[in-house]
Amino acid sequence: SQLEKGGYPHFMLKEIFEQTDTIFDCIRGRVVANGTAIKLSGVNDHPDRFINAGRILIVACGTSWHAGLIGARLIENFARIPTRVEYASEFRYANPVIRPDDVVIAISQSGETADTLAAIRLAKEAGAFVYGICNAVGSSIARETDTGTYIHVGPEIGVASTKAFTGQVTVLTMLALAIGQLKGTISSEQIAEVGRSILRLPDLIAETLELNPQIEKLSAIYTYVHNFLYLGRGYNYPNALEGALKLKEISYIHAEGYPAAEMKHGPIALIDKEMPTVVIAPDDELHEKVISNIQQVKARGGSVIAIVTKGDTTIPAMADHVLEIPRVPEALSPIIAAIPLQLLAYHIAIMKGCNVDMPRNLAKSVTVE
Ligand code: G6P
Repeated sequence: SQLEKGGYPHFMLKEIFEQTDTIFDCIRGRVVANGTAIKLSGVNDHPDRFINAGRILIVACGTSWHAGLIGARLIENFARIPTRVEYASEFRYANPVIRPDDVVIAISQSGETADTLAAIRLAKEAGAFVYGICNAVGSSIARETDTGTYIHVGPEIGVASTKAFTGQVTVLTMLALAIGQLKGTISSEQIAEVGRSILRLPDLIAETLELNPQIEKLSAIYTYVHNFLYLGRGYNYPNALEGALKLKEISYIHAEGYPAAEMKHGPIALIDKEMPTVVIAPDDELHEKVISNIQQVKARGGSVIAIVTKGDTTIPAMADHVLEIPRVPEALSPIIAAIPLQLLAYHIAIMKGCNVDMPRNLAKSVTVE
C-alpha cells in the first residue's frame, strides 16, 4: 500500500532512500570509542577461530555474492587471511576442500536461499566454523550458523536488493577490521581512519542521495539502449558487477560488469555510440589507470557516465555525465558508489515502464534449487 511505501512510489526507491537510517542501525554499537575500535560479538566471542583460521571461504548467491567479493578483498587487506568467494550453487557440488580451521562466511539477505543453506551444511559437516551475515532475524541460515552478524536493515521488499547490499558490505568492512584488530594485522590508526568514516556513513549517504534529480534527468537519455557496460577496479570491480545486475534485473537492458583493465581483452570490441559505459572512478590508487579506460571508450565513440570523487577535475573534462560522490577512505567507496548505481537502474527502469518492485521471472527469496 501507499502507506507502507512511506510516500515513495515504489519500495525500491523507499529502500534506496532509507539507507541513511539502515546503515545507522547496521553500525550502531559496533564501531566504538569514536571509531577507533570495532565490537562484533561474533568475532569477539570466538577469537581462537579467527586467530587460527587457515582460510576464509565466503558462500552466497546473487547480490550477496557481489558483497562477498568486496568482503574478500577487505578481509585479505585488513586481516591478511587468504579468502575465496564461491557461488553457493557451485560450491555445494564442487567436492570442495573444507578444513576444520576454515571459517566459512554465508551471506544471505533472506537467510533462506536453498543453495547457501546447503553450502553451510556441507561446511559444518567438515567441521568448519560457520559465520552468517543475514538480514532476516531467526531465518534458517541465521539459526544454522555457529555465530554471525545481522545487518539490521529492516525488511527489504523490492526484489532488487539495495539496502541489504550496502548493509552487507558495511558488516563485511566491520568484520575485516574486527579480525584485523584481533590479529594485530592493522594498526589502531588504520582502524580509526576507516572507523571514523563508518560513523559518518549515514551523513555521507544522505549527501550522495542528493544526486537523485540529476540521475533521473540523465536516465531519460538511456532508455532506448540495449547494452550497457559497467567498469570498476579494486573494491569497485564487484560494484560494477552489482550495478550491471541491478540494471538488468529491473530494466531488462543487458548489462555486463567488468574489471576496467580487462576491457581491452574483450568488451572493447563492443563499444560504439550505441553502448554506454558506466565507470566507477573514485579518486584512489588506480585513478590514473581508470582515466585511460575512459579515454579508450571515448575514442571509440562510446558515451561515459562516470562516478567520481567530488573535486575531480580530470574526468569531468572527458566524460559525458559525471556523478560526484563524497570523498571517503578507499575501503568505504563501494558503499557510497553503490547509491548512484541503484538510482540509475531505478530511473531507467521506471522510464521504460517496468515494474521495479516485482521484475518478471525473479523472486525475492529462492528457496528451491
Ligand atoms: C534472489 C534475489 C536477489 C538476492 C539473491 C540471494 O535472486 O532476487 O536480490 O541477491 O536471491 O538472496 P539472499 O537472500 O540469499 O541474499
